[in-house]
Amino acid sequence: MTTALRPRILVVDDDRALLEALVQALESMGYEVLGEFDPLQGLARIGDWDPDAAIFDLKMPGMDGLELLRRVLELQLELPVLILTAHGTIETAVRAVREGAYDFLEKPFDLTKIELTLHKALDYRGQKRRYRFLAETTARKGEFEGIVGESAAIRKVIDAVTAVAETDSTVLITGESGTGKELIARAVHVSGARKEKPFVTVDCASIPDSLLESELFGHVKGAFTGAYRERAGYFEAAADGTVFLDEIGEIPQVLQKKLLRILQEKTFTRVGESRPRATEARIVAATNRNLKKWVEEGGFREDLFYRLKVVEIQVPPLRERSEDVPLLVRHYLDRLNRKLNRKVQGVTPEAMAILQHYSWPGNIRELVHFLEQIMTFHDLRVLDLSHLPEYLMAVADLVIPSETYADLKEKVLDDVGLKYFQKLMNYYHGNVSRVAEHAGLNRRHLHRLLQKLELDSSLYRGHRDI
Ligand SMILES: Nc1ncnc2c1ncn2[C@@H]1O[C@H](COP(=O)(O)OP(=O)(O)OP(=O)(O)O)[C@@H](O)[C@H]1O
Ligand SMILES: [Mg+2]
Repeated sequence: MTTALRPRILVVDDDRALLEALVQALESMGYEVLGEFDPLQGLARIGDWDPDAAIFDLKMPGMDGLELLRRVLELQLELPVLILTAHGTIETAVRAVREGAYDFLEKPFDLTKIELTLHKALDYRGQKRRYRFLAETTARKGEFEGIVGESAAIRKVIDAVTAVAETDSTVLITGESGTGKELIARAVHVSGARKEKPFVTVDCASIPDSLLESELFGHVKGAFTGAYRERAGYFEAAADGTVFLDEIGEIPQVLQKKLLRILQEKTFTRVGESRPRATEARIVAATNRNLKKWVEEGGFREDLFYRLKVVEIQVPPLRERSEDVPLLVRHYLDRLNRKLNRKVQGVTPEAMAILQHYSWPGNIRELVHFLEQIMTFHDLRVLDLSHLPEYLMAVADLVIPSETYADLKEKVLDDVGLKYFQKLMNYYHGNVSRVAEHAGLNRRHLHRLLQKLELDSSLYRGHRDI
């Protein structure tokens, strides 16, 4: 892990002896160093090795340092470049700096000077990147209170959020699992007048029915077995902030009546107490259930349903706003790069096309988990088709011309697929069910694949070296 944190320095110099000496010196300073004596190779390594700074010799056959510098500048990577110059070429070096090199270093080397200059260059790079990141996050288009997206569908949601934020209306947020209901509930809170006030989330599905009432409204001492002290509930904790009732469809009937009272009279009572207490809290509720149907089936009070959906915000599934997929992917690649200390720079157009066409039944949550899984398993620079699992490649028929796809599919199965499943087998010690679950395949499908790859799961049982 520590190696990933060492800054990477690329050195390009046609003089091999000098190159070696410099590489060694830089390594002893603690950098991760790559030396290239061929300028074209050096250029290629910038793309795939992603250095944090580069040092180019000025005079090289084929392509000199100045030319190399220009090529690098064209890539707009904010990569600081130091130019090595011998006596007599200083003028050219100065020109290089004017054209965009960070600085120049004179031969023979002064190691202290090199260290100092590199230090400054890396600092500069860090600042530039931080600045760019800040500029991106503050001025980023298509983002509102953490809600990423520019599709008409999500804009409609954001408009609704801003419209209700300034009011006290109860809001019901509906949508499939993973569509961002909780994110939107928070956006309602933070973009309104209550933003400095508490935002209290109650996950109605995870609190046992027997406890839900006292969690919501509080209780007095001795109200039930185990109530040793009196306690305030979520509504008191929220004061004049927002109570977010997540999974409201799971609330038992008895409590539905008490919630109705809160909505109608703005009062509630602690368990074991008869004195009503007033509340100023705003209620935002969410559900991935079809509440109307639940009302028809007798599971949910109709009067409460209508009270809740004074304003209803319907969050569309991701497959109905697939134009947001690239933005979401970009957003989460940046985040995961920071979280997992990775350097993924992007996604190839073919792979992105597949991500856009996939139906994402688990919506944005599934997309985020998917990216996190890939980035945990591979330290990659660019996400391409070879990283996509079978179930995603299955949509490739629709988006990639079939000849290319046939080749790709073979390739995916044969080399990447083999490595991928070997890793998974190792990780899960040959447990086929868990491997299948991880890869999003059913067991039968996985068995067929394993046969094709001639991978024997029994070899991995009891194996513990991941
Ligand atoms: N538009 C979006 N932009 C950025 N991230 C999003 C967006 N929508 C959802 N997410 C992220 O996706 C994940 C799932 O969102 P969230 O928890 O809000 O879904 P949910 O609708 O409440 O799902 P469930 O019904 O399963 O509770 C979260 O990590 C959330 O930050
Ligand atoms: Mg949720």
